[in-house]
Amino acid sequence: MITSCRSRATLLAVGLGFAVVATSVQAADKLVGNADAGQAEVSSVCAACHGADGNSTDPQYPKLAGQHAAYIEHQLASFQSGKRSNSIMSGMAGMLSKQDIANVAAYLSQQKTSPGPVDTDQAALGKSIYDNGIAAAGLPACESCHGPKGLGDSAKLYPRIAGQHAQYVVQVLTGWHNGQAWGDGPHAKLALSVGQKLTVEQIHAIAAYVQGMNAVQ
Ligand code: HEC
Ligand code: HEC
Repeated sequence: MITSCRSRATLLAVGLGFAVVATSVQAADKLVGNADAGQAEVSSVCAACHGADGNSTDPQYPKLAGQHAAYIEHQLASFQSGKRSNSIMSGMAGMLSKQDIANVAAYLSQQKTSPGPVDTDQAALGKSIYDNGIAAAGLPACESCHGPKGLGDSAKLYPRIAGQHAQYVVQVLTGWHNGQAWGDGPHAKLALSVGQKLTVEQIHAIAAYVQGMNAVQ
């Protein structure tokens, strides 16, 4: 009896030892997000615009559900530094610590994106641009970075865009079309050049397609 207690205690100690080592290695590199704490933060602050599970109902606010954690962290840091400028989000991001950011990113990335309605008239042109780009304008296929299903690539910080509100996608692409960059880093420049190679009509078509991507997938 005593022996078995002691061996259990030893196992526990060994287990804790590993846990402590793992945490300190992670902390030196990158904060580990706590999704429960993130959910509490989202429901008290962010839900008013982005929805409690990150699926905003008002299409002027982006859906954040299912977005890559690394991309959410990257954008919140850009709002904090002023590289990406938005009067509402600068204030919101300014209140968050690095740990808060890791927490909300962990929670939001684990939520499921709700599909948006498909506008079949517009979406056909949008799909053609998405899949093939526009050679004459020097525009690469959106698919080459955002993936065939619009799921992006977390390691490269290419966002998920499938299911995003068309109104928000139009807002973002129109901003780039008009030369409003999200900073001067390589990704911001890349996004700017995408927006500038699209016409206003093409922007609306592509946004209609992107919004319905979940539904057709
Ligand atoms: C009052 C409304 C409002 C609230 C509250 C709000 N946001 Fe936002 N959020 C916005 C708007 C508007 C944008 C789009 C900004 C733009 O167009 O650049 C945005 C954009 C974002 C983006 C960028 C998404 C993307 O796809 O690029 C992230 C991430 C984000 N918000 C996270 C949060 C978090 C986390 C909270 C809570 C701490 C929060 N927001 C609270 C309105 C809000
Ligand atoms: C060469 C890679 C590449 C291509 C091609 C590309 N994108 Fe992107 N896209 C990016 C990157 C990188 C970002 C993030 C920009 C940043 O972080 O400043 C982005 C961001 C976006 C966003 C904003 C997402 C958000 O919510 O923050 C939208 C919308 C978007 N792209 C749509 C498109 C569309 C539509 C096309 C095709 C016409 C396209 N992209 C082609 C790399 C690409």
